[in-house]
Amino acid sequence: MGNLLEGKKGIIFGALNDLSIAWKVAERAVEEGAQITLTNYDLALRMGDTHKLAEKLNTIVIPADATNVEDLEKVFEESKKFLGGEIDFVLHSIGMSPNVRKKKRYDELDYDMFQKTLDVSAISFHKMIQVARKLDAVAEGGSILGLSYVAAQRTFFGYSDMADAKALLESIARSFGYIYGRSKGVRVNTISQSPTLTTAGSGIRGFENLVDFSNKMSPLGNADADECANYCIVMFSDLTKKVTMQNLFHDGGFSSMGMSLRAMNQYEKSFDDYKDEHGNIIYS
Ligand SMILES: NC(=O)c1ccc[n+]([C@@H]2O[C@H](COP(=O)([O-])OP(=O)(O)OC[C@H]3O[C@@H](n4cnc5c(N)ncnc54)[C@H](O)[C@@H]3O)[C@@H](O)[C@H]2O)c1
Repeated sequence: MGNLLEGKKGIIFGALNDLSIAWKVAERAVEEGAQITLTNYDLALRMGDTHKLAEKLNTIVIPADATNVEDLEKVFEESKKFLGGEIDFVLHSIGMSPNVRKKKRYDELDYDMFQKTLDVSAISFHKMIQVARKLDAVAEGGSILGLSYVAAQRTFFGYSDMADAKALLESIARSFGYIYGRSKGVRVNTISQSPTLTTAGSGIRGFENLVDFSNKMSPLGNADADECANYCIVMFSDLTKKVTMQNLFHDGGFSSMGMSLRAMNQYEKSFDDYKDEHGNIIYS
């Protein structure tokens, strides 16, 4: 399509199937002239279609659990070898909460699961950046991106411990953005995306209502995965060389809204409390 990423080399974490945001980013990056490698963890590689995408984009898949530092070292080393040089951009598109999967409410969290949520969804971002820096794998002026959600700033029913993971993810972008910016001009940012119908997204309780609410609240409507991919491409390109340590909302305006007419029309129908089977009000 274009040449925004001509000559650039990138690593895409988190393409599971053709609904994945990372899948769209991988396709768009190649369309814009980049060479990339793909990586995901074992279970995803067995259950998902990452290998199909690699075939289509003429690249390799490097299996790695993003919580495992040795695996991450392998990803950067093998990517450098395959792509023939330093890495210009990295996408962290990884999220998973066992508490959300098991429908555990926020006031009934399992703490082992909570730690897993934080490790997979946020600390893996730190591990990835720390490994990249130790191996000096990212080129001067490179760009590292994570994907976040507005639940880091505001409370959303059903998002549970993923909200805490996203708050941590955004903080890591700032803390490492300072260090990596000073040492090698590398940008670190997060994009805060609209709710999007993907495998991870559909795990959230009441997700379809959330998508609808958010769409009705946003003047531009929800941003979809293709539009998110476009924003990621701009952030990987040389057009955003001085943007770092930011959480960038890509949400059709949702995060600046209080109440819209469309939402008001919809929600004046009922303000009944949400109750469990015993008639007790559910808060979390
Ligand atoms: N879908 C949404 O509504 C939405 C909104 C805002 C932000 N996001 C974020 O976008 C990112 C991508 O999610 P998605 O919606 O495309 O869903 P997805 O399910 O397609 O992607 C999640 C990815 O995380 C990977 N993953 C899970 N555990 C891993 C591990 N231990 N090691 C390596 N990879 C692991 C999965 O295999 C999968 O590829 C996530 O960070 C998610 O929180 C999603």
